[in-house]
Amino acid sequence: MADTVIQATNLAKAYRLGVANNSFPTLRDALASGARRILQRKADGGRRNSGEDQFWALRDVSFEVRAGEVLAVIGPNGAGKSTVLKILAQIVEPTSGRATIRGRLGALLEVGTGFHAELTGRENIYLNGAILGMRRAEIRSKLDEIVDFSGVEPFLDTPVKRYSSGMYLRLAFAVAAHVEPDILVVDEVLAVGDAAFQKKCIGKVGQIAHTGRTVIFVSHQLSVVQKLCNRAILIGDGTIKADGPTAKVIETYLRTITDQAAQDLATRALRSGRGRVRLTAIEIEGDGGVPTSGQRMRFRFRAAGDQSLVDCSFTIYDEFGDAVTSFDSAEHSDGELVGDSFVCEFRPCLLRPGRYRINAALTSREGALEDHVEGAATFDVRPGILGGRLVNAEPGYGSMTMPHHWTRGRGLGYR
Ligand SMILES: Nc1ncnc2c1ncn2[C@@H]1O[C@H](COP(=O)(O)OP(=O)(O)OP(=O)(O)O)[C@@H](O)[C@H]1O
Ligand SMILES: [Mg+2]
Repeated sequence: MADTVIQATNLAKAYRLGVANNSFPTLRDALASGARRILQRKADGGRRNSGEDQFWALRDVSFEVRAGEVLAVIGPNGAGKSTVLKILAQIVEPTSGRATIRGRLGALLEVGTGFHAELTGRENIYLNGAILGMRRAEIRSKLDEIVDFSGVEPFLDTPVKRYSSGMYLRLAFAVAAHVEPDILVVDEVLAVGDAAFQKKCIGKVGQIAHTGRTVIFVSHQLSVVQKLCNRAILIGDGTIKADGPTAKVIETYLRTITDQAAQDLATRALRSGRGRVRLTAIEIEGDGGVPTSGQRMRFRFRAAGDQSLVDCSFTIYDEFGDAVTSFDSAEHSDGELVGDSFVCEFRPCLLRPGRYRINAALTSREGALEDHVEGAATFDVRPGILGGRLVNAEPGYGSMTMPHHWTRGRGLGYR
């Protein structure tokens, strides 16, 4: 088609197993799992080719993107999203198939790609611009804008290896967004950096999308995806599971997560970690049965293996896939944890009524990830009473509440 800017045909990518590689986990992986350190993740059965020590990160992926489309790529950890983007940005070669790109493509990939550690911030701006085919004068004319957006001016002549990951990301995003690519490819930048910068990035991506340029955007924040993108592709197990209008594809994705959560945790194949201790069951109950706002509720995590070796952590996500809050038994307060399971009790539950899911992890004391399961369980919270008030479901107004008190006319006067 005439206005096709990306044509991906039968893309496949095999990685060799056991070879030192660059598949270091992203910061966002660590945030999402609530685990502190993540060991290299284990491949799941279906994609491992036992004879050849190969792992198929992608298989037979075909899609087409037209000029001006704002496309989201969504899917669980390890699905192959970043691999698709890296192929489009020509950072990795597909094992078979091909991707044809028409126009200048600016990419902001996981922290760790694109910049040269030894070069200064300024040199990296010029280098990146040059890679995108910009002339020096062109880059110079954009320099102030880039530096201003990034907020790293005082460090502009410092090698980027001395940057914090947040600074690094700020500069990388500023470059990718200001060099006026025809196609902007952004991989999950939003979890790194502070809230204000995230907002600025989302605003910028939205602006670029509005100027009619093509954007491909990978994110686990489904509410942001919903806002920014008019089309989404769902990737699972290295293949395309759905492609269409964003709302529909998100719905499909959430349904698969819920279905997965219903599957027996002990036998779930999709998990990561070295597996010496593994989660086998999660029980979630409220004081009177069903979890209810304002009442006590309890999560019990059962595991196989020596539980004294590990800490248990979990993150609660709302129905849009946004993290609500997380908990870690390494930060418990009541002395040694003993017994045959980890129990976390809310006294009381401050979640608003709605549907939630959790990612759960076991991390060994020396910080290695033993087991991490996305969508390990789902649960519903019913409306209830907190501090004498009814806590209702109010879509779009957040997922937590807290005991509170209203007055009129007088200052708080805490002292
Ligand atoms: N260089 C590599 N060597 C070996 N395996 C790799 C390499 N890069 C990625 N993989 C594997 O390929 C699969 C797909 O990885 P990819 O990074 O594309 O997933 P993703 O969908 O971006 O996941 P996430 O949401 O966690 O970022 C994963 O199982 C990953 O471990
Ligand atoms: Mg990724």
